[in-house]
Amino acid sequence: MRNQIIRIASIAAIIAVSIFLSGCKQRPSNTAQSIAREEFGKLTDGRIADLYTLTNKNGLVMKVTNYGGTVTSLSIPDRNGNLADIVLGCDSLQGYLKATAYFGAIVGRYGNRIAKGQFILDGTTYNLARNNGPNTLHGGLIGFDKVIWEATEINDTIGVGLKLHYLSKDGEEGYPGNLDVTVTYMLTNNNEFRIGYMATTDKATPLNLTHHSYFNLAGAGTGDILKHQVIIEAGKYTVVDSTLIPTGELRDVKSTPLDFTMMQVIGSRIKELGGNPVGYDHNYVLNSGDKELALAAKVMDPSSGRVMEVYTDQPGVQFYTGNFLDGSIIGKGGKAYKQYYGFCLETQKFPDSPNHPTFPNSILKSGETYKSTTIYKFTH
Ligand code: GLA
Repeated sequence: MRNQIIRIASIAAIIAVSIFLSGCKQRPSNTAQSIAREEFGKLTDGRIADLYTLTNKNGLVMKVTNYGGTVTSLSIPDRNGNLADIVLGCDSLQGYLKATAYFGAIVGRYGNRIAKGQFILDGTTYNLARNNGPNTLHGGLIGFDKVIWEATEINDTIGVGLKLHYLSKDGEEGYPGNLDVTVTYMLTNNNEFRIGYMATTDKATPLNLTHHSYFNLAGAGTGDILKHQVIIEAGKYTVVDSTLIPTGELRDVKSTPLDFTMMQVIGSRIKELGGNPVGYDHNYVLNSGDKELALAAKVMDPSSGRVMEVYTDQPGVQFYTGNFLDGSIIGKGGKAYKQYYGFCLETQKFPDSPNHPTFPNSILKSGETYKSTTIYKFTH
């Protein structure tokens, strides 16, 4: 009888310990992939924004709202299999309505800057709102980060995803042509966040679509990214003036703090950059050039072991280290986002291309179909 009681007590203890351990660690396992929708919040005009939770077979979780096509969280495993949310963002829709940092959003019609908000196309001068000093940034006052996208769920063998559709009307933000845009987000079972861009127009228009997640591979809000290590597959960058508009010169990165052709720690040379605010905010001219899907960058966080590779068919990538974050934005979980708390790798055309005939073409014409792919792949 006594032995039996001891045996039952030990079995109960083993069960209790394993329940406790499984609760401590969120180990990604072979789960069923899924996609679920809930209400995220209401815009000031009463429209509802949804929040989609995408889970792949390995237990990675990505949350996306159709407001701005914004990735609000992305949980990926570290070297021990522990998940952490690695993108900066806000807890509620209200946070995104107020935020000015483009957290996790689709950026367009023209990502990055257009000098003095002006360009000439087919003999007509177009004027855009100047929302960044003397220039236009990221599409203008109400860019693609601030509109509601029509979302369709995708659940197939590759993984789970969302097809996001938006019709940008002729004249919107000063741009010509009715632009029909579809952005497809996939969280694949290969642990990739794949973005497919597609667009058509009925009148020639500048177009530069990109994605603006701020990553911190140690976990959003846990500190700065200065110890992350980076490779960028680019031998040149576009030289800019004090308002971050390219002069037209493509300069070698060799022997400068901009050289990431070999793996470098972000913080090791950042102060040498000078400028105000100090930090990386540069468009790299990718060695792969235009049109071929190739590795653009690789980032590693030594503390967690998380690794992110970026592949694109775009000619450039803007490497931005969150220089403008100053602690005034309170992000998820009540954490203030300070300078360098996240980095962006925005795959793109070069800034101000419509005013630089020598830069890769950024004009989409009527009758053409714009197609582009960017992949953020996660390993450890
Ligand atoms: C881009 C720009 C930066 C900054 C951020 C948004 O990355 O290059 O200068 O404007 O967007 O804050």
